[in-house]
Amino acid sequence: MTVGSFSILFQYFNQLLGEVDEIFSVLFGLESFRVAKMRINKLLSIKNEVDGKKIISRIESIYVHDFDISLHRNSPLFVKKLNCTFSSPGLYIIKGKNGIGKSTFLRTLIGLYTPIKEGEVLINNENIDLINKKKLRENNISCLFQDVPLPSCTVAEYIRDKHTNSNSDQNEAFKKVFYSSQFNIKRILDRKMDELSTGELQLVKLYSAFLKEKVDCYLLDEPLANIYPELQYDTLNLLKQMAQTKLVIIISHDLQFEKIGKTIKVG
Ligand SMILES: Nc1ncnc2c1ncn2[C@@H]1O[C@H](COP(=O)(O)OP(=O)(O)OP(=O)(O)O)[C@@H](O)[C@H]1O
Ligand SMILES: [Mg+2]
Repeated sequence: MTVGSFSILFQYFNQLLGEVDEIFSVLFGLESFRVAKMRINKLLSIKNEVDGKKIISRIESIYVHDFDISLHRNSPLFVKKLNCTFSSPGLYIIKGKNGIGKSTFLRTLIGLYTPIKEGEVLINNENIDLINKKKLRENNISCLFQDVPLPSCTVAEYIRDKHTNSNSDQNEAFKKVFYSSQFNIKRILDRKMDELSTGELQLVKLYSAFLKEKVDCYLLDEPLANIYPELQYDTLNLLKQMAQTKLVIIISHDLQFEKIGKTIKVG
């Protein structure tokens, strides 16, 4: 083969490769278009959360009757349908085995999770489906959940909004937990939330939940988790005090709670 014919052949070969390359990029383009279309269709098929209209001024009672939740293909979550009543003021401890559905129950109660439900839940004798859960979460309830993604900000930024107009700082039982020698929130205000120890983080989340003090109900999922024993004792006292005027519902495996509240068994 002469040098001339080799260079012509080489040129055509390169051209051919270029075309093949283009065909592949069109195919890849088509595939990503197909995936994007599928995702858009999936997003469009998500139904808007249907929230109720009724506004609750103060939570007086929560009545749960033959309640169950369906998670996968209509199989019920609870081993036994849930029947219980929470009356304000009062301290209630929800107990039950791991994975029995305690956290899912509380999330469903306040509309953070909207699975298929069975039975009925009434707040002040109103069906929860008719109650505006967004307003309920804003005005009536303060929550502490374990598995909430953390914002990348400092402790001061995390608590700033809630701290305004709070009188909790003057409360002795509150000070014993959050301004003590074991833990003082003031010392960690400049620290990043995602750099705190698990115990520190838990106390900041608790602090933040308690600062929302205009509410009439506290839902606390494992409030004592990772807290130093002496502080646990002070936190129990604070919760006992809060439950004298408000409804405090706690999920806990901790036996200490059994002495100070009414137990609700799930499962
Ligand atoms: N969105 C969901 N989709 C499918 N399954 C879920 C969903 N949320 C929770 N589950 C399942 O429901 C069951 C109950 O979970 P839940 O977190 O309520 O249990 P729990 O009683 O709070 O347990 P623990 O004491 O370990 O915190 C678990 O098996 C969990 O995997
Ligand atoms: Mg849980």
